[in-house]
Amino acid sequence: MFNIFKKKTNSNTSIEIDYNNIPKHIAIIMDGNGRWAKKKNLPRTFGHKAGVETIRKIIKECNRLGIKYLTLYAFSTENWKRPKDEVNALMTLLVEYLKKEFDELNKNGVVINYIGDISKLPKTCQEELIKAKRNTINNKGVVMNLALNYGGRAEIINALNSLISDIKDKNSKNITISEKDFEKYLYTSGMPDPDIIIRPSGEQRLSNFLLWQCAYSEFWYSDILWPDFSEADLHQAIYDYQNRDRRFGGI
Ligand code: IPE
Ligand code: IPE
Ligand code: MG
Repeated sequence: MFNIFKKKTNSNTSIEIDYNNIPKHIAIIMDGNGRWAKKKNLPRTFGHKAGVETIRKIIKECNRLGIKYLTLYAFSTENWKRPKDEVNALMTLLVEYLKKEFDELNKNGVVINYIGDISKLPKTCQEELIKAKRNTINNKGVVMNLALNYGGRAEIINALNSLISDIKDKNSKNITISEKDFEKYLYTSGMPDPDIIIRPSGEQRLSNFLLWQCAYSEFWYSDILWPDFSEADLHQAIYDYQNRDRRFGGI
């Protein structure tokens, strides 16, 4: 039996979401901050700041909707190519965000987690992330995975290297690895694959995001820029997802 009813969002929009079919895992490529700032004749960093405001709204709404995992692509392995000033501003914003938002996130039961090779981030970022993770690990709300210095290819290679180093008898010719064995070495070990990948900003590419995990994810694109992304857009994405036919290769 479906229990469909109208849910009002903060942004005064109503859309019919099926609360019996809420995706377990939503992943978002938070894109378009730079273009948002450019449109307003502001420096790109203003776009990143505005993007943080959107993060705050969307986590709150995901938590309220009962979504179990929210993975946010915040900094890719390729984003180091950006000008030093922009990279530094992003790292500073991350530390400020964790410091400023910690109490509120913790109060709302959010589990703060990260995926990616954080050892390449500035020490202050690493410390804040480790502390936030440690202090929220027993919370019961949405797990927020911040993808930082994350790349899907790097993740797979990292998993492969860890797996090789765990193989005891390296001379054995009889080693077979299953998908399940391999997944244990990914950053997302123990988490369900994303049901839906959302990318605002008009781009229709993965940009090295969750390459292994997105095998059967539904993609949802929108021209809206991340700083303008609202609870209503999230509802629309969930609604559209619920109206897709996921066959997983079956009929
Ligand atoms: C996403 O916005 C934020 C990061 C990649 C860190 P962009 O900075 O990529 O914004 P655009 O794509 O230039 O508009
Ligand atoms: C993807 O956005 C990475 C993040 C949102 C963190 P980019 O803006 O870096 O991706 P491309 O360069 O348009 O593919
Ligand atoms: Mg971009």
